[in-house]
Amino acid sequence: MIDIRPYIARLDWHREPQGLYAPIDYALAEGGKRLRPTLALLACQLCGGDAEKAVPAALALEIFHNFTLLHDDVMDHASVRRGRPSVNKQFGDNTAILSGDEMLIEAYKQLQHYEPSLLAQLLPVFNKMASEVCEGQQYDMDFETMADEQVSKDDYMNMIRLKTSVLLAAALQMGVIVAGGSKQQQEDLYAFGIHLGLAFQIQDDVLDVYGDERTFGKAIGGDICEGKKTYLFLAARDNASEEEKVLLRQMMALPSAMAQERKHKIEQVTLLYNRLRAREEAMKGIEYHTTQALNILSRFPQQEARQTLEQLAQQLLTRQS
Ligand code: IPE
Ligand code: IPE
Ligand code: MG
Ligand code: MG
Ligand code: MG
Repeated sequence: MIDIRPYIARLDWHREPQGLYAPIDYALAEGGKRLRPTLALLACQLCGGDAEKAVPAALALEIFHNFTLLHDDVMDHASVRRGRPSVNKQFGDNTAILSGDEMLIEAYKQLQHYEPSLLAQLLPVFNKMASEVCEGQQYDMDFETMADEQVSKDDYMNMIRLKTSVLLAAALQMGVIVAGGSKQQQEDLYAFGIHLGLAFQIQDDVLDVYGDERTFGKAIGGDICEGKKTYLFLAARDNASEEEKVLLRQMMALPSAMAQERKHKIEQVTLLYNRLRAREEAMKGIEYHTTQALNILSRFPQQEARQTLEQLAQQLLTRQS
């Protein structure tokens, strides 16, 4: 199995103006899990292709992912990513916006490496995914200001399918396309990626409350302070009595501008989540979607790439970072 890391490290961002490119270098430095490019390479290999040929697509996907993180951290007012100051914190919001824009363009430049017949198949998949990620991000923001009862679990699942799953799914589908795999293989691995992504985002929600900042690399409690409608929040709300619902609403309305207020709010909401067994509910969701993902994978012949994908899916169940 080829490793995407050296290829990412070899991308050269020593260009002028440095104010635009140095933050890209910073964003793409070591620290990320490189999940999406790894999925693309494994899908290519699983369908009998040469993984090397999927490298430009894999790079496009990782650059695109990091572009979304630059903008996401502005939108979420996040100041820590991968255990370091986020790009917006380090260089300012304007830089995060413009360097992020440039990364989106750089992702497309990677796709330019493909011959026209392949490009014609890859581009629609990539473009559909990219629009859907934006749609998901918009729902995520819309939900912040919507009343508790207005957002259903189905709304949430649709939102995370868009903001997170489709990128994993498209990575896999693009790997199949590069390998010259069948339409059925494209559909199957896409569906695998959707379930994997749902489990992955629910776990991200869990780690945002119950993780350790040192391993998770992001500030704990960010979702609570931003009023995100996460899986934990919806599970807590659905398990709550009328009195507890009022309490939950009150705690979520606490201020969080100052560090001390923030700490208090996170503590109070976490206590309620504990009492309402939100984490246990989330684990059920993660396990369900991981099982669905693994069932789809079992349609593929037993071979190294399938085993690696299975291990990856299983590791995500217990991931801490
Ligand atoms: C973060 O993705 C954004 C989500 C979809 C939760 P990752 O957790 O894959 O981030 P990195 O790339 O490993 O830092
Ligand atoms: C991830 O949502 C989705 C995208 C970045 C598109 P989050 O806002 O939960 O991601 P993190 O937790 O900041 O990585
Ligand atoms: Mg975020
Ligand atoms: Mg976000
Ligand atoms: Mg998150």
